[in-house]
Amino acid sequence: MEGLKILPDNSIDCVVTSPPYWSLRDYGVGGQLGLEPTFQEYIQKLCNIFDEVKRILKKEGTCWVNIGDTYSTVSGSMGKNKWSQPKYSIADGSMPEKIKTPFPDKSLCQIPSRFAIEMTRRRGYIVKNETDEAWLGGIIEGEGCITIAHHNGYYEPRVQIAMVNKGVLDRVQQITGVGTVSKQTERNNPKWRDSYIWKASGSTAAKICSDIFDYLVSKKEQARIIWRMVEMQKERERTGGDPYSKVGQKYSEKQMTERQKLFEEIKKHNQGNGTPTKLKNPTKNEPWILRNTIIWHKPNCMPSSAKDRFTVDFEKIFFFVKNKKYWFNQQFEPYTEPMNRWGGEKLVASGESSWDNGTGQTTYRDRDMRPNPEGRNKRAVWSVNTKPYSGAHFATFPEKLIEPMVLAGCPEGGVVLDPFFGSGTTGVVAIRNRRNYIGIELNPEYIKLANDRIQSIEQNLF
Ligand SMILES: C[S@@+](CC[C@H](N)C(=O)[O-])C[C@H]1O[C@@H](n2cnc3c(N)ncnc32)[C@H](O)[C@@H]1O
Repeated sequence: MEGLKILPDNSIDCVVTSPPYWSLRDYGVGGQLGLEPTFQEYIQKLCNIFDEVKRILKKEGTCWVNIGDTYSTVSGSMGKNKWSQPKYSIADGSMPEKIKTPFPDKSLCQIPSRFAIEMTRRRGYIVKNETDEAWLGGIIEGEGCITIAHHNGYYEPRVQIAMVNKGVLDRVQQITGVGTVSKQTERNNPKWRDSYIWKASGSTAAKICSDIFDYLVSKKEQARIIWRMVEMQKERERTGGDPYSKVGQKYSEKQMTERQKLFEEIKKHNQGNGTPTKLKNPTKNEPWILRNTIIWHKPNCMPSSAKDRFTVDFEKIFFFVKNKKYWFNQQFEPYTEPMNRWGGEKLVASGESSWDNGTGQTTYRDRDMRPNPEGRNKRAVWSVNTKPYSGAHFATFPEKLIEPMVLAGCPEGGVVLDPFFGSGTTGVVAIRNRRNYIGIELNPEYIKLANDRIQSIEQNLF
């Protein structure tokens, strides 16, 4: 997550990755994903990572995620390997010995489907659940204040709620996971009851306003104003300035005037005498669009010892995009069966088409149909043998599996990101296909493995 946070918005063309599967393997490093005691925690953490991926992916970008399932078991199923240690820290300080699932023993947990559903459902930058959005929207509308703090030349967007009921503010903090709750002592009148204040500032405040925007009534204009303020700060950052610098030092005359105007406007709105600003509504964090579920069929899968079910010889790969229009380079594969009447996919007709009086439409009936010389549109079941990588990593991608993703989803010269880089297969395939890559990996030994591997490829290429 920290690695993703330093990457700028809209900077990556394509993401190809395979996160650790839930409760399957111990990758031997603190902070790793996959060892959460419940599947809900795993899905939430994983989707939080993909929220960040969405931020850095270009509008026209593509995202490919290979993820496997886990069988529910009463005996616990933590895979052990040479990295396993008796105890090391994960989120709660200890490694779960047994996984806890609400599913019947021996049942598949359906993690891939749950992940895809959460990815295509979740909105919101910070508040991930619609019920919480409505609740928080109501509290901020009724008891909160959306404002800009102006102090000594600094302008800081802010959302705050002040009240005597600390429980409500603790809940706000729990829902958002941000901000602070502090006690306000009434100095002038010590007999008054203590009250508490919760505050969030900067781009966090703007994101909260975007999440609850639909539930605001009288504070919509304030939400638009602080959203604009943060957009301005981002524009300033892009042009190399310090976004929080003092008035008169780094901001242009025009920007300073706009900031001052926004500050004046929000003040008027909070005093109840503002006028409509015509500013844009905050941008919603839209859910991912799922374009394909690809089945990775493994003809050489490991034989299974199970005698009361079939051997599983496939995994799922989800193909997500951020926007309805995206960069996609169609991939073809050879025809394998004779054409049907309609010729299957991607037929090229020779000769003129004619007008069909019966249907009133142009018809291909009189034309000779022939297959597209490039082949048919690539289908969604991909048969690729698993290929154990000779280095010391367990779950490597076969290069052949991810090549179509890179070719279809990333223009030449573009950047492919793998936030779970492992032994660096995504980097290898990117280089071989004249794309750039960024890899993020927690385990230092795997980083070394990936670097050595990529270096040897580069030496062979040039
Ligand atoms: C399934 S493997 C990826 C293998 C990779 N596709 C390859 O071809 O080698 C998942 C990787 O994610 C790494 N990992 C686990 N938690 C992580 C985290 N929070 N951030 C970054 N990497 C993590 C693991 O160390 C492991 O190498």
